Amino acid sequence: MDIFDKCEVNMGPIGMYAKQSEGYYVFPKLEGEISDKMIFMGKERLVWSLNNYLGLANHPEVRKADADAAKAWGLAYPMGARMMSGHTKYHEELEHQLAAFVGRPAAYLLNYGYQGMVSIINALVNRNDVIVYDSEAHACIIDGMRLHFGKRFVYPHNDMQNMEKELQRATRIIENTGGGILLITEGVYGMAGDLGNLPEIVALKEKYKFRILIDDAHGFGTMGPTGAGTDEHFGVQDKVDIYFGTFAKSMAGIGAFVAGDSKVINYLKYNMRSQIFAKSLPMPMVIGAMKRLELLRGDPSHREKLWTIVNALQKGLRDAGFNIGKTASPVTPVILSGTIPEATQITYDLRENYDIFCSIVAYPVVPKGTILLRLIPTAVHTLEDVEYTIKAFSEVKRKLENNEYSKEFKIGN
Ligand SMILES: Cc1ncc(COP(=O)(O)O)c(C=O)c1O
Repeated sequence: MDIFDKCEVNMGPIGMYAKQSEGYYVFPKLEGEISDKMIFMGKERLVWSLNNYLGLANHPEVRKADADAAKAWGLAYPMGARMMSGHTKYHEELEHQLAAFVGRPAAYLLNYGYQGMVSIINALVNRNDVIVYDSEAHACIIDGMRLHFGKRFVYPHNDMQNMEKELQRATRIIENTGGGILLITEGVYGMAGDLGNLPEIVALKEKYKFRILIDDAHGFGTMGPTGAGTDEHFGVQDKVDIYFGTFAKSMAGIGAFVAGDSKVINYLKYNMRSQIFAKSLPMPMVIGAMKRLELLRGDPSHREKLWTIVNALQKGLRDAGFNIGKTASPVTPVILSGTIPEATQITYDLRENYDIFCSIVAYPVVPKGTILLRLIPTAVHTLEDVEYTIKAFSEVKRKLENNEYSKEFKIGN
């Protein structure tokens, strides 16, 4: 058998639908300025799919900082990995600012959140250690664990009783191996918008010896009184050992960071393989991130605008009878019952007849029979956008309940 044979016969769980869905349901092209309205297939649509939470993507100061940095340095500088030749005082300065903002002694930049997380996990644990993690962990956490030679125990999403059981199991194992326990949770779960149960997780530290790593990709910039994240929101920053945030969402950029005790961050700096053996973040990303951070922490109006839209959207949906689950963050899931063909037709109807572009999640990401339409409100949405969307969703829900979507499988081009 040729190694490439599978490429046509087994395209994988998403790729198997590529012919029907590419360009529309997957790999769509959103064009124009990043905002509440963008162009999809030549037509303006109201977009609820971008994690541009604070609306910084097109902030004039951000655009200027990015452009000025590109003009001054280009995209090449600095060349090489940080350890070899790609280190600058600006990288260090951004790290100091990030550490101070999230209330930790030290921080280290990561050139992508995904690779960074893989290497944080890989560097922190060895075969004697045990990882305890949530069943809804992001793919980057799962990939980090795939490199782990020791035991790993999963608990059902946010299920504290089972988490404690897994901690007990893990404790028995490390008593023999002499290792330690790393518990990994997310701050905000990106699909359903609910929060990792940090208060109860940190309380378990009284009973068990373990360290906590939090992936706060969606919480950084959106949660907490100053936007410093979900652990700030819960007032437990001093009990969460390692904080991970990305620039890909609230910061509307590229890159990420990890923050914690100086000794741990210094160890990670010398041991995260995806950072040691990969090129450093180019200067516009670093200078641009400093500008974003300045706006994120210095101007609460972005977060206030975001939460005005979040509250209006979530209250409006609840009042209109929608199930939006347990979200306590800007991520807004609209949970409906239906099949995959119905889910695709709803997406099509929303896009073509209401000019609303949102992401849809169906089985196997959510249980069979469940359709999750995921809305990401941002500071650049308006209350009119919210009102229009709730009306459209109410009509779509009525059609779904009247079985109007179950007739045929439509595709949009
Ligand atoms: C929970 C979570 N962790 C990590 C990442 C990866 O971050 P990045 O896009 O910076 O690679 C994402 C997605 O962006 C995410 O949603």
